[in-house]
Amino acid sequence: MSFIKLNNVYKEYGKDDTLVLVLKNINLQIEEGSLIAIIGSSGSGKSTLLNILGGIDKVTSGEVIIDNEKIDNIDEKKRAKLRNKNIGFVFQNFALLSEYTVIENVELAAIYSNLLGNTKHNKKVIKEKALNLLKDLDIENLKNKKITELSGGQQQRVSIARSLINDPKIILADEPTGALDTKNGKEVMKIFKKLNSLGKTVIIVTHDERIANLCDKIIKIDDGEIVI
Ligand SMILES: Nc1ncnc2c1ncn2[C@@H]1O[C@H](COP(=O)(O)OP(=O)(O)OP(=O)(O)O)[C@@H](O)[C@H]1O
Ligand SMILES: [Mg+2]
Repeated sequence: MSFIKLNNVYKEYGKDDTLVLVLKNINLQIEEGSLIAIIGSSGSGKSTLLNILGGIDKVTSGEVIIDNEKIDNIDEKKRAKLRNKNIGFVFQNFALLSEYTVIENVELAAIYSNLLGNTKHNKKVIKEKALNLLKDLDIENLKNKKITELSGGQQQRVSIARSLINDPKIILADEPTGALDTKNGKEVMKIFKKLNSLGKTVIIVTHDERIANLCDKIIKIDDGEIVI
């Protein structure tokens, strides 16, 4: 049994005249601990696929099985819980809360985990975990800075720290290097490589061939279908 499995997945948006079929009969198996790139042209369905893999989006039909759990048909509350527990998300635009500090942004994901009932960590434990991650990512010195005071590369490290605070098995990253220059992009990819070597399953949507070539496997989508 594969770690992540999609069976006959279809995704459409809209209705009648506005109906768009975005994913067509996607069948996919991803093994635990792998490092996967999803590539394809703009509008081909990459983000939609990633959001389905992470339980952000629902399929129109088909099955999504993650770590032996079928998640395509469960209600939003249960999906939010599973997502928070198992999956770390990293986005191109970082999706951080700009009015909060670096450490607060990282801590919030752990506080949310408590609220969802996934964990019962006290404030001190959460702070320690956040600080350790900031150390690992070499941004401990920025802990009390506001997000608006950081460079893109620094913001992406914060968002990676946030994605890791609940110790997910899976990291999903949607064009994580898209807003970064080459040097910072390489650094971020190094971090993903390291996380993968520590056992995380990492799935990265990218336009960048060099990034894709650093992965174990490339999945190419063309107009909603997997072509390789
Ligand atoms: N919420 C939505 N409602 C309607 N159509 C949508 C919605 N989200 C995505 N789409 C459509 O689905 C198709 C695939 O979008 P998606 O965002 O998955 O593409 P992508 O491969 O990630 O593109 P990009 O490389 O530009 O990020 C596009 O045609 C898009 O317009
Ligand atoms: Mg996209």
